[in-house]
Amino acid sequence: MSSLKQPIALLKAMLVRIPLILKTILLHGARMSPVRGKQDLRTELTVAIIRSFITFTTPVGKLQKDSMRDPGIKGPMWVSKVTLPQPEVDVRDAVLRAIEDLKTGDETYDVPNAAAVEAEWTGYRSKVGKRTAQPDISEEEKYHKLREESPSDMTILYFHGGAYFLMDPCSHRVPVAHLSHRTGAPVLSVRYRLAPQNPFPAGLVDALTAYLSLIHPPAGSLHKPVPANKIVLAGDSAGGNLSLVLLQTLLTLHRASHTIRFHGKDIPIELPGGVATVSPWCDVTRSMPSIRKNAVFDYLDAPPGTDTPFKPIPFPSDEVWPASPPRVDMFCNANMVLHPLVSPLAAPAELWKNAPPIWISAGEEGLTDEGLIVARRVHQAGVPLVAEVFEGMPHCHGLLMISTPSGRRFFESFAGFCRDAVAGRVASSGNLTHISYKAQSTKEIPIEKVCETTDEEAAALMRRSAAWRLEGEKELQKQWHERARL
Ligand SMILES: *[C@@H]1O[C@H](CO)[C@@H](O)[C@H](O)[C@H]1NC(C)=O
Ligand SMILES: *[C@@H]1O[C@H](CO)[C@@H](O)[C@H](O)[C@H]1NC(C)=O
Repeated sequence: MSSLKQPIALLKAMLVRIPLILKTILLHGARMSPVRGKQDLRTELTVAIIRSFITFTTPVGKLQKDSMRDPGIKGPMWVSKVTLPQPEVDVRDAVLRAIEDLKTGDETYDVPNAAAVEAEWTGYRSKVGKRTAQPDISEEEKYHKLREESPSDMTILYFHGGAYFLMDPCSHRVPVAHLSHRTGAPVLSVRYRLAPQNPFPAGLVDALTAYLSLIHPPAGSLHKPVPANKIVLAGDSAGGNLSLVLLQTLLTLHRASHTIRFHGKDIPIELPGGVATVSPWCDVTRSMPSIRKNAVFDYLDAPPGTDTPFKPIPFPSDEVWPASPPRVDMFCNANMVLHPLVSPLAAPAELWKNAPPIWISAGEEGLTDEGLIVARRVHQAGVPLVAEVFEGMPHCHGLLMISTPSGRRFFESFAGFCRDAVAGRVASSGNLTHISYKAQSTKEIPIEKVCETTDEEAAALMRRSAAWRLEGEKELQKQWHERARL
C-alpha cells in the first residue's frame, strides 16, 4: 500500500503546481523573469518548486517524518549501515566544557546524554544502472565492497543539512555517493540527533562521538583507525554549520590539551585535515543583508524583520512543537544565539587560529553574507581558505543539480579541496573565486572586499536580532506560565 501511496502523493503534489511551472516557463521564455541572465530555466524551476513546498501549514513532527522517509538504496552507491556504540559520558562533558569555555554571558541549554550514533558508510558503486538494488549481503560485506571501490586513505565525515530539524543521511545519499566517486574516499554520513526534540548541543555531542570513533574505532567496528589528518569534516547548510562548530569545539579542547576517556582509553584531541562546507548556515539569527537582497534567487524566504513585533513561526502545534516551555528557535534557547558554538559567525578571528584548511562554497543566496564573513575572519586568522560564490545560484545548488555545468564545477572544487587538504597542499590565495552564470567564466576578488558588511555591523545586526528573540521568548513563556496556572 505505502509503495502506491508515495507516487500518488507526488503526482498530486506536482499536478497542483502545474500553473506555477507554466508561469515560470512563460516568464523565462519572455525574458521577463526577475532572475534573467543569472538562472537558466532548470534552476528557476527548481527554485520555484522547492519554494512552493516550504510552507508553515504542516506540523513540525510530520514535516520531519516526511523529510526522513527512506527512498531506498539503489543505483551507483554502496551503503553500509552501522551503529557507533555509546561512549563514556566524557564525550558529552567535553562538549559542555567547550561551551562553558566560550560562554559570553548567562547562556542556558539542555544537557543531553552521550548516546549511540547511527551512521551510513556511503560510497560509489560502479557499473550499475540507476535502479539497481544493493545485493542482499551483510552490512560488513557491503562495507568491504564499498572500500574496494573507495580505496583512498582519506575519510569524509559528512553532516547533512535540514535546518537542524529535518532530513537524514538517507535523504542525502545521492550527492554523498557522488562526492565519494569524485574523491575515491569512503564517507561516513551521520544520523545526528535533531531539534526540536533534541536541541543544542545533542547533535554536537553525536558529531564528536562520530569523529572520535573514526580515529579510535570501538570494538566491533568495520573500519580501521583513520589518522585525524586524513579526515575531512564536510556538510551542507546546517551540516556545514555543524562541521564548523565541531571544528571550534576541537580547537577549544585542543588549546586546553584536554584528553577524553573514550571506550576505556584516555585519548588526546587531534585536529582534522580539513573542513568543507556547502552553503553553511553560520548565523542562527539570519540577520545579514543577503537574507533579503538575494531572496529572489533562493527558495529560502527571508524571516520577518526585527522592526516588527516578534511572532512565532505559525506551524500548527503537535507533540514536538511548540516545545514546553516554548522557545523561539527550534535549535536552542534564545539566550544561546550569540554563542560561537551556536553561531559560528559570532566567533572572533582568534578562535579560528591553528584551524586546518577550510573550504566555503555558496550561491548568490540568503546565507551568502554569513559564509563570506566567516571566510574573511578565517582568512584573517591565517587559516588556509578556499572560498567561492556561484552567481545566481540558490542554497545548496550543487547538491540539487549535480550534472549541470555549475554542479560539475562545484563538485570539482569540493573534491579537489578534500584531496588537497589531506595532502597538506591547500594554500591561501587571499581571493574568493566568483563563478559566473553556467560556470562560463571566473573572477578572483580579494577576500577582504567581497562582503560590504563589516564585522562590527554584523555583530550589531546579530545583537539586535538576539535581543528581539529574547523579548519574544520571554513573552511566549509568560503566556505559557499563565495558561499553566489556569
Ligand atoms: C549553526 O547553526 C545554528 C542553528 O541555526 C546557528 O545558530 C549557528 O549560528 C550556526 N553556527 C555556525 C558556526 O554557523
Ligand atoms: C587575487 O586576485 C587579484 C585580482 O583581483 C590578482 O591580481 C591576484 O593575482 C590574485 N592572487 C592570487 C594568489 O591568485
